[in-house]
Amino acid sequence: MENNVKIKIRKMDISDIPFVYDNEIKIFGRSLGEKTLYNEILYNDLAHYYLAVIDNQRAGYIGSWFTLPNAEILNVFVLEQYQKRGVGNALLCKVIDLCKELDIIYLSLEVRESNLSAINFYKKLGFKREAIRKGYYENKEDALLMVLDIGGKK
Ligand SMILES: CC(C)(COP(=O)(O)OP(=O)(O)OC[C@H]1O[C@@H](n2cnc3c(N)ncnc32)[C@H](O)[C@@H]1OP(=O)(O)O)[C@@H](O)C(=O)NCCC(=O)NCCS
Repeated sequence: MENNVKIKIRKMDISDIPFVYDNEIKIFGRSLGEKTLYNEILYNDLAHYYLAVIDNQRAGYIGSWFTLPNAEILNVFVLEQYQKRGVGNALLCKVIDLCKELDIIYLSLEVRESNLSAINFYKKLGFKREAIRKGYYENKEDALLMVLDIGGKK
């Protein structure tokens, strides 16, 4: 894939559910589930889900919740063949822009402490390690809580 690709970020809709579900299972071994994703998209005003599209192909996804005055990233992935081309960055920047628009104070997320590429990815965008959540995952692995200070009114 060329480096100069045009990445389009758009809202997720219900036609994207199989893509998100299948790849969450493949990549993480678990998913919110198709029914929950459906309800989130149609009925949860706090949920903001986006797709990254390249040449009309779905390349990645990000899910977030805006539980004002803070927000959190639920999940993010980029398909392997599209990684390291700025797609993850574009997805996260979309959520960060929305945070700024909505005067959010903190944007947070949990990440496996072994997931060094993701930790590096978040650090690059300014996230800081805030705490460790002991035994957070099913296999009892710890999670890092990472936080980005958006700067909204405290
Ligand atoms: C983490 C992930 C979303 C990054 O997506 P991406 O599109 O490859 O990331 P980008 O190309 O936008 O990279 C942005 C920055 O993140 C960092 N980064 C990305 N992938 C990295 C890797 N494998 N190793 C180290 N740093 C990495 C780099 O600093 C990069 O900046 P640079 O290109 O200027 O060096 C992607 O690797 C992924 O989907 N991983 C599997 C799923 C996952 O772990 N999700 C996170 C769950 S918490």
